[in-house]
Amino acid sequence: MDFLTACGRENLTIQELKELIIDEQTIWVLDEFGNTALHYACKAGNLDIVKALIGTYKIPWNVVNNELVSAGQIAKSAGHNECYEYMVSEGCRAEFILGVLARSKVGEEKEEKISNVDYLNSKIEYTEDGKNLKGGFDTSEGVMMEWEKGLMKKHADIIEILNVGFGLGLIDTFIQESLPKRHTIIEAHPDVYNFMLKNGWDKKLNVEIKFGRWQDVIEDIGCFDGIFFDTFGENYDDLKQFLDHVPNLLKDENSVLSFFNGLAGTNSFFHDVYCRILSMDLQELGLSTEYIEEDVPKEIDEDGTWKNISRRYFSLDKYRLPVCKLDY
Ligand SMILES: C[S@@+](CC[C@H](N)C(=O)[O-])C[C@H]1O[C@@H](n2cnc3c(N)ncnc32)[C@H](O)[C@@H]1O
Repeated sequence: MDFLTACGRENLTIQELKELIIDEQTIWVLDEFGNTALHYACKAGNLDIVKALIGTYKIPWNVVNNELVSAGQIAKSAGHNECYEYMVSEGCRAEFILGVLARSKVGEEKEEKISNVDYLNSKIEYTEDGKNLKGGFDTSEGVMMEWEKGLMKKHADIIEILNVGFGLGLIDTFIQESLPKRHTIIEAHPDVYNFMLKNGWDKKLNVEIKFGRWQDVIEDIGCFDGIFFDTFGENYDDLKQFLDHVPNLLKDENSVLSFFNGLAGTNSFFHDVYCRILSMDLQELGLSTEYIEEDVPKEIDEDGTWKNISRRYFSLDKYRLPVCKLDY
């Protein structure tokens, strides 16, 4: 029996696995679809073999096949919950340790690198129907799209009043409906800022616009009942850096932080891992996180929402709306 077929057996033992592995190359045998031994073990739901392949034989938890399907997803589709749970916790453990190591590098000169500098210097445009804001890293990325309107309303129902990232102004429009006492908006892109001025956002109820990157204007901005964070072209490290400010930005135990949760938004397994890592990172900062599950509008799969958009950034059926509060 070949190595991959053996790894796909429910009853393969650790001893048998050991005997099959002749050298490093055996571990990295792939089938024609790019599936690894870990994909096979996950499909069989053989937890001992999954643990050995990751722990002893160092197959990374996030390995994917040619179709970008991860071993974790295979465990989930096959209904092997114990295996799936192990894969998610292993992903959290590995990524959390990497994050801690990166943060603990002492004595190194920190290079100031702006993740979305190309985006901030590029030309972006509102579509004629006002439903999308396009441009970014290529000319047809969806910087902000109207399909998120329902989700933005849910975010706005929960929070007031510092919003980072204006985009289409969807959430800011909902925030205005709640007649805020103070409504601060941070926006970094000049085209978006000009759009805001053209549309009178500087004169709306209690609105204060801070034009610039949040990294440059966040100091001494005060405290808020609610904060919403949704930028474009930034990565998990940027979000993490923003989170470091949050304990000083929230007023009290009733104040809420939320953000657009597109973490690994095209892969349910990686999404589960990153949602959990985020909760762990927030816990370190003294914040508890609850995810409220919302349906994603089904029509967006068929109504042409993603037509002419170069990269679909969200394709999960459920949206997990984060509600984070200070632990007292
Ligand atoms: C996805 S859109 C926000 C959509 C918004 N939630 C809405 O309801 O329409 C992201 C916005 O963040 C802005 N942005 C990107 N990086 C930023 C940064 N570092 N600081 C402030 N704004 C930023 C972008 O220019 C863009 O307008």
